[in-house]
This record gives sequence, C-alpha cells and structure tokens, in this order.
Amino acid sequence: MHRARCAEHNYWKGKSEDSFRKDRQLIVDFLVSASGGPAFYGGRDMKTSHAGLGITEREWQLFMEHSRAMLMHLQVAPREQDEVLDFLTGLKADVVQPQVAPIGVA
Ligand code: HEM
Repeated sequence: MHRARCAEHNYWKGKSEDSFRKDRQLIVDFLVSASGGPAFYGGRDMKTSHAGLGITEREWQLFMEHSRAMLMHLQVAPREQDEVLDFLTGLKADVVQPQVAPIGVA
C-alpha cells in the first residue's frame, strides 16, 4: 500500500524487495482484520509501527489523496468510500507525528 503513497520520502530505501512485500502483506492483514474480515494480523499496533518515522501532515494528505483516488478508480460506492476514509482518518493520530518547530520559529 504505502510505498507509492508516501511520495515525498522513500521510507523503504535500504530495505529489500522481500521486506517490502512483507510490510505490504502486514498492511493487507491489518486492514482486513480491522474491518472484520478473515485475516489474522500478526504485526504491531499503528502507534508502535510509525513512531519515530517522522511522517508529516503533508505526507498524510498525499496518502489520503491517493487512497481516495484508488477508491474512485475501483468504483467503490460513495458510502463505502466514506467508510474507508473515515476509518483511515481515525488512525491519523497514531501515524502522523507532531512536527517540532525549529528554535526561533513560533
Ligand atoms: C491509516 C494509514 C496507515 C495504516 C493502516 C498503516 C499500516 C501499517 C502497518 C500494518 C505496518 C506494519 C507494522 C509492522 O511491521 O508490524 C506499517 C508499517 C509502516 N508504515 Fe504504515 N500505515 C499507514 C500510514 C502510513 C503512512 C502515511 C506512511 C508514510 C508516509 C507509512 C509508513 C510506514 C512505514 C515506513 C512502515 C515500516 C516501518 C518499519 O519497518 O519499522 N504508513 N504501516
């Protein structure tokens, strides 16, 4: 899911293709199990998984724009689109870290 969606920063640089595939599978498992589907999620919680990455508000917005565009592309009905986007929005506080302003900047 999110390698292409975090366009401003390649968070997977230095990781093997296999590690990327493993992360992608974890994300699929997480989304399926969190939405009541038949998957077991064996990964970490969202706060632990993203702590220290420094994901910005702008990157979050890009991620949401790509997610919205993909739902449109897949012709998901508007109500279900909203449900998915609301679900993702509910996780934002665990994914995005507050940016620390440089000294001297209010
Ligand atoms: C609601 C939205 C998101 C969900 C549901 C999600 C889900 C996940 C999951 C399930 C993992 C694997 C956890 C594990 O290894 O145990 C993960 C890892 C990761 N996510 Fe996300 N993610 C989201 C948003 C984002 C965004 C917006 C970015 C970057 C812009 C991002 C970057 C990463 C990175 C770099 C890792 C790997 C961390 C590591 O290897 O330590 N995620 N995410």
